[in-house]
Amino acid sequence: MLLCTQTPAHAGLLIRFSHVVAEDTPKGLAAQRFKVLVEQRSQGRITVVVYPGAQLYGDRDEMEALQIGAVEMLAPSLSKFGRLGFPEFELFDLPFLFGNMQEVQIVTTGPVGQKLLAGLARQHLVGLGYLNNGFKQMSGNRPLLEPADFAGLRMRVQASRVIAAQMRALGAYPVALPFSETREALGQNVVRGTENPLSNFWTQNMHTVQTDLSLTNHGYLGYAIVTSERFWLSLNEADRILISRALREALDFGNQIADAQNDKALNALRESATTRVHTLTPAQRTRLRKTVQPVYEQFNHRVGPQWIRDVEKALAR
Ligand code: SIN
Repeated sequence: MLLCTQTPAHAGLLIRFSHVVAEDTPKGLAAQRFKVLVEQRSQGRITVVVYPGAQLYGDRDEMEALQIGAVEMLAPSLSKFGRLGFPEFELFDLPFLFGNMQEVQIVTTGPVGQKLLAGLARQHLVGLGYLNNGFKQMSGNRPLLEPADFAGLRMRVQASRVIAAQMRALGAYPVALPFSETREALGQNVVRGTENPLSNFWTQNMHTVQTDLSLTNHGYLGYAIVTSERFWLSLNEADRILISRALREALDFGNQIADAQNDKALNALRESATTRVHTLTPAQRTRLRKTVQPVYEQFNHRVGPQWIRDVEKALAR
């Protein structure tokens, strides 16, 4: 896609917020809430234009767009920061790391989460906060309940080395593809399965091309909201405060509705009857967990042992 820095004629301040998912997702709805809050509180002086569904930029070019000033805000999944030079973010991809969303919150709101965001300054980015989507589920055209079910399966993954290693440990072949190309790739059998939280699975219509969804809850998917240092420092202090507060409220809202959005997607999916939904037994889940355990050792060095130790300390393990 051609990167365009030209700003539409605009008297006040314009914030272009680009993301890759549908509007009816935790991220889509939080972005919309942010727009409403900022525009109300600035009495229309600041305009926020949200571009959902990768309609402006996708996984491959959105960060470049931010850095050259073609957009002002992004919310990439945490899994996409590794390839941009922040491998420590891939700690969120370690399979079965978090037992529940409270544990995620402990890490993102505590010193580890704050230190990770501060590190984005290495590439002149400003990390403004975290947003949850939820736990990921495995889908394919067969149930994925045991490690043997993954043998030889081409699985679409985000561009995270940890997620790729997780798939390899299960005996699958990881294929990194942008989110916006995933449904089509599944439909054309370029890949045969994938992992995603339910709200993404449903709103991308993946249920029309996947016959089976297994509720593995094996990993977490969340986002970091980022802007460029150049844009952030161009704002006056009052606008920075207004934007930060509105974003905090929008992210709290997104975090509150994330579980409900995933539940809603599961209900819709069950009603659509296109896709069989499988629940794992505790023994099946334990076998999956044991099979992917070597990923921790393999990636200790890439993610950084201190980061992993800090997470374990925060979770009192
Ligand atoms: C997203 O939720 O932003 C996309 C996740 C993915 O690429 O699978």
